Amino acid sequence: MNNPDTSSEHFHGSDLQKVEAKYHIKASDIISFSANVNPLGLSDKLKAELSSHLDCLTAYPDREYTALRNVIADYCGCNADHVVVGNGSSELISLFIRALAPKKSLILGPTYSEYMNEAKGAGSEASYFELKESEGFVLDEAALISALADDTSLLVICNPNNPTGGAIRRSVLDRIADHCRSIGCFVLIDETYVEFASDMDDITAVPLAEKYTNLALLRGVSKFYSSPGLRLGYALCSDTGLRQRISMQQVPWSINSLAEVAGRLMFTDTAFQQQTRDLIFSERKRLTKRLSENPLLKVYPSDSNFILVKLLTSDVTAASLFDAAMRLGMMIRDCSTFCFLDESFFRFCIMDPSDNDRLMECIEKCLSK
Ligand SMILES: Cc1ncc(COP(=O)(O)O)c(C=O)c1O
Repeated sequence: MNNPDTSSEHFHGSDLQKVEAKYHIKASDIISFSANVNPLGLSDKLKAELSSHLDCLTAYPDREYTALRNVIADYCGCNADHVVVGNGSSELISLFIRALAPKKSLILGPTYSEYMNEAKGAGSEASYFELKESEGFVLDEAALISALADDTSLLVICNPNNPTGGAIRRSVLDRIADHCRSIGCFVLIDETYVEFASDMDDITAVPLAEKYTNLALLRGVSKFYSSPGLRLGYALCSDTGLRQRISMQQVPWSINSLAEVAGRLMFTDTAFQQQTRDLIFSERKRLTKRLSENPLLKVYPSDSNFILVKLLTSDVTAASLFDAAMRLGMMIRDCSTFCFLDESFFRFCIMDPSDNDRLMECIEKCLSK
């Protein structure tokens, strides 16, 4: 297959307008296999209830967000005093890293690039701890413990990890947090994708955020609750001093009134939560099996709503596959810009079964040329 001239251009899942301009496909007609957003959209229940609350926009939200933090505490099973809310998990990643002002940071990678951007922006000497491809991107706990030098002040873990999809069990995180406590290192865990994990109770660090003051976890509603436009995220942190420093740096009312109402409704929408898990679990199993049967692909087991795949033939690159899929109105993620990955890696998120089938056909056709 010819390599189109896409190598110099990389598109993030939210770059639909840029893609529209290049491929002349209306943004609304593009199926985004790249943004990792739940394909179910907003639940009918949420839409109906939210639209009846529009008048909330005429008042400032509660500056303490007490009702929202109580609902989040019920949802997570933690102390409401430990909940911090933010304008998406993005704001919280930034606030935590800036408030911690880590001299030296270690980030498990390949991973989401914002941790490195924020750590560097906060003046930290930041580096990656490599999850090795030869080890299936699975963490080598002993190697991490030895890499954590006495002067490491921040460790960042995305769990489950974007883009590899794998997850670290809580028992392992517990030992890592314990070691970090002994060397004065703070552990920041991004659980943006944890609700998609098949065994979430075994993975989430919620009990650890209660146990350790040197650990915080972050989540958002963008992916699982299909609402990246709402900009709502939250963190759990039992260090009172750190929460106060964050609160002093945060813009007042950074979560708008509608997001405050939506959050309270979403976290109690158990039917939507179940429907999402049913869809993601069955499609993840089906798609992993189908792709794994292709000898030209290596598929990494995922605990998220996306799957990382390696092309085992140099005839097709992530860029050429991106281009072929894009011409059919499907946008996947070329992963060559992630640290430790190259042009043989691509990622796609799970969409509706019929869309997923179209993508599978496109991948299989590209590989059979
Ligand atoms: C791992 C991870 N964390 C955080 C974010 C940002 O999420 P939010 O929309 O909650 O700011 C993303 C978005 O892609 C992500 O993949």
